[in-house]
Amino acid sequence: MHFILITPQIRNKSVLMKSDCMQTTIYQERKKDPIEMFHSGQLVKVCAPMVRYSKLAFRTLVRKYSCDLCYTPMIVAADFVKSIKARDSEFTTNQGDCPLIVQFAANDARLLSDAARIVCPYANGIDINCGCPQRWAMAEGYGACLINKPELVRDMVKQVRNQVETPGFSVSIKIRIHDDLKRTVDLCRKAEATGVSWITVHGRTAEERHQPVHYDSIKIIKENMSIPVIANGDIRSLKEAENVWQITGTDGVMVARGLLANPAMFAGYEETPLKCIWDWVDIALELGTPYMCFHQHLMYMMEKITSRQEKRVFNALSSTSAIIDYLTDHYGI
Ligand SMILES: Cc1cc2nc3c(=O)[nH]c(=O)nc-3n(C[C@H](O)[C@H](O)[C@H](O)COP(=O)(O)O)c2cc1C
Repeated sequence: MHFILITPQIRNKSVLMKSDCMQTTIYQERKKDPIEMFHSGQLVKVCAPMVRYSKLAFRTLVRKYSCDLCYTPMIVAADFVKSIKARDSEFTTNQGDCPLIVQFAANDARLLSDAARIVCPYANGIDINCGCPQRWAMAEGYGACLINKPELVRDMVKQVRNQVETPGFSVSIKIRIHDDLKRTVDLCRKAEATGVSWITVHGRTAEERHQPVHYDSIKIIKENMSIPVIANGDIRSLKEAENVWQITGTDGVMVARGLLANPAMFAGYEETPLKCIWDWVDIALELGTPYMCFHQHLMYMMEKITSRQEKRVFNALSSTSAIIDYLTDHYGI
């Protein structure tokens, strides 16, 4: 099968993407199997898909601090399939970036399976975003509106399963819950019957923003499923992660904002250690992170450990060298 000229970016000198034979090699190097992790009985700690943020450099950082599984930011499958520019800008990976799930926004089974075929040599699986509540996404038929379209979800899962032959390649979904939980359980059961590998549940409805997360609903969903379930929402420390894991009976937890604020949280740190900040500088510069992204991550990480006055100065910095000087002056490494 030859589709390799449409290549996502692979940031690793030793991995070139020239032949079918190389595709096999790349996959065989992806040894860590998320499904096996879920069956280990240990808490599986997952970095959430985050548009603009859960990119290669950040994934590299959180993996250094006990994160077991990472998701890419949501990528619109239709753009990814149709545009080389979209592929080059949206998906970058390397050999250490494993296990990796590529999350897609999709509303068409054919386009999703085409996108899955493109990334399958470089990822452990794909995830369908059925949870994004943003208006633009819902208007396009992506994200949380899919929780009301179980047949479309089923078709998309089936098509990926039929088109991607790589053994062990996972197809998962990330959902929000319905007001009527029976509908969520029904959706999850249908997804399970179609061959979904696991389900991540953000325990809020599509309308809820800052309301408390319904961990009780996540627990009920888990009780009704045989496949792994990941709990998501408002987890800010390793202790909270362990607590949510216990009370929901799920197989893992997924964290977004908690990791932005403290990428070392899964390793048990209560706030971002200085070592982690310097690791970010090293990793981001080595992988060539755009300045805005480099700076924004530091603003998140330093939120808790800087005073208002320090933030004003730090947030106004406008070059990488100014940032390095600031960090050296204030944190003296
Ligand atoms: C900056 C940002 C970007 C996000 N992007 C995505 C995304 O691409 N796909 C997705 O399914 N959810 C996305 N989310 C939602 C998170 O994955 C997660 O479900 C939500 O933030 C709740 O988890 P938390 O309380 O740990 O932040 C995003 C959240 C944030 C804060």
